[in-house]
Amino acid sequence: SPDAEPFLPETPEARSDLDALREAAAGCRGCHLYEDATQTVFGDGSPGGRVVFVGEQPGDQEDRKGLPFVGPAGRVLDRALEEAGIERGDVYVTNAVKHFKFKRQEGGKRRIHEPPNAAEMRACRPWLLAELRLLDPDVVVVLGATAGKALFGSSFRVTKQRGRLLPLPDLERIGTPAAGREIADASPEGAGARIVATIHPSAVLRAEDRDAMYEGLVDDLKVAASALA
Ligand code: URA
Ligand code: SF4
Repeated sequence: SPDAEPFLPETPEARSDLDALREAAAGCRGCHLYEDATQTVFGDGSPGGRVVFVGEQPGDQEDRKGLPFVGPAGRVLDRALEEAGIERGDVYVTNAVKHFKFKRQEGGKRRIHEPPNAAEMRACRPWLLAELRLLDPDVVVVLGATAGKALFGSSFRVTKQRGRLLPLPDLERIGTPAAGREIADASPEGAGARIVATIHPSAVLRAEDRDAMYEGLVDDLKVAASALA
């Protein structure tokens, strides 16, 4: 079955080196998504960052530029970060899936985003886990349902979990239903790393009531910021 694992660097030294991971990910053929995309879009940001943002997958512009969140959704995220008081130097952004999945508009050139399926998310998970192990963040911000399902299994619901500081499950359990149960039952007290779920910034762009959606995003990011203070 599709799996990125064979493409990860072998040595623990290389696995704890962000550049070595990024270089290895550039050659990943762990699932079929590399075939039509331009390039792997690995995470980017401050290696010392205390907050890791996990999105869904690169979009059209990210695919062209090779960097996450540099398109319209990224601009919403940047603005919301600033408003929530989260500093850029504290942030690393990445995606649950590292290649752009799309279909071509009939007869046109436009590439339409398609959500990754469960097998693709599972295949790509070793990269996300390697990033989380290496960065060891204080807070993981989960952007939207796809990222939530990638981390906590298919029972994850953003509407239910958003805007609360929850304990980050053991990385060994990430992606399994056990991780989903763990956060569903969690009380916000206790030590250790945290997760905060919120909507995907592109949902703001699609919403009828953009202002309310945006304010909700900022409020959730303020909850993440409170864990850093
Ligand atoms: N949407 C995402 O989920 N990730 C990106 O990098 C860009 C848009
Ligand atoms: Fe590898 Fe992930 Fe790209 Fe699939 S989407 S080829 S698993 S990097």
